[in-house]
Amino acid sequence: MISIENQLGLRPAMGWNSWNTFTWDINEQLIRDMADLFVTEGYKDAGYEYIVIDDCWSLKERDKDGNLVADPEKFPSGMKALADYIHSKGLKFGMYSCVGTHTCAGYPGSFEHEFQDAKLFAEWGVDYLKYDYCFKPRHISGELLYKRMSLALKNCGRDILFSACNWGADNVYQWIRESGAHMYRSTGDIRDNWDSIKELAISQLDKQCYTGSFCHNDMDMLVVGMYGGSNNDFIGRIGGCSDNEYKTHFSLWSIMGSPLMIGCDLRNANQVTKEILLNQELIAINQDLEGRGAYRIKPEPQWFHSDDVFMLVKVLTNGDLAIGFFNLSDSQRELSLQFWDLGLPYAAGFSLSLYDCWEHKELGVFRERFAPVVPARDCLIVRAKLVQ
Ligand code: GLA
Repeated sequence: MISIENQLGLRPAMGWNSWNTFTWDINEQLIRDMADLFVTEGYKDAGYEYIVIDDCWSLKERDKDGNLVADPEKFPSGMKALADYIHSKGLKFGMYSCVGTHTCAGYPGSFEHEFQDAKLFAEWGVDYLKYDYCFKPRHISGELLYKRMSLALKNCGRDILFSACNWGADNVYQWIRESGAHMYRSTGDIRDNWDSIKELAISQLDKQCYTGSFCHNDMDMLVVGMYGGSNNDFIGRIGGCSDNEYKTHFSLWSIMGSPLMIGCDLRNANQVTKEILLNQELIAINQDLEGRGAYRIKPEPQWFHSDDVFMLVKVLTNGDLAIGFFNLSDSQRELSLQFWDLGLPYAAGFSLSLYDCWEHKELGVFRERFAPVVPARDCLIVRAKLVQ
């Protein structure tokens, strides 16, 4: 019998993607370096699995048979050899294409080549395909083009995780799960600054009912650890966040069930970056088997708080609750959680034992309410256990 645990897309994907930091400036040595670091620095052991090459990997033209061609200057050994290398490390290999005639950076897209490209990706040993939305002919629906590539991938002879990337356009929530995609971008491109993180997170708070096993809401790749280190001004060469902002970013993406795709240069990740990306308690919340979305609770008194101050609660498989106290505002706030809002009346006689997932320590046992003071742009993530 096939174990459900091994099914493609059961949990949010975890990996690294070349785009945020390197955009067009990619090559096979860089990709190999990231695979090596996944193993030596503990990312693989923590659950990170996919090494994904984003846009700008091919030549500008297909060959005479209509096949995509890897740029021989960037990838002289070819994609098959690169896939073999990544597989030899016990990792998986991801690539990128687009529903349209061209990718967003102007390389050939898979429009009207879907089955041919899926076959080629399978031959190369690809395990993951990110599928973008630029240069889409207007007469044809995106929904149909995602169905097409899904059908091609599911029948190409290899398990390939299908990562749709249409930026939340065309009410993607309403049709993407049925199309066969395992994850779907729900937002415009992230930038390496606090305003972008905050905007993307808030935009998805009322979309948590759509995310779940086998079709995860992808809030875009992580900017944790970039500190303004992109070669692309739009993403944030002059941006960058504080360590606390990166911690809050990772907490939001974890509890909201987004795939965790690292976007920084792991060759020079500092200690704080590693502690954030390798936080096992946050990763366990993100990867929880039942894959539920998180519900939002406004802190009391409700009239006092704006929309950037909220609690998120994710019901976990073993009966615990992951609770995030998020203060995305610019001033310190007390976030009061009344346990009745979790379905726990005082009269039931139970309390909650709280464990702090960033400080890695027990906070104690609380009955009726818990009201931490959270600094600006910060958060507290607890794992709560019901106790007598
Ligand atoms: C779009 C996507 C990004 C990235 C670029 C590549 O903007 O949303 O994540 O893949 O295209 O050109």
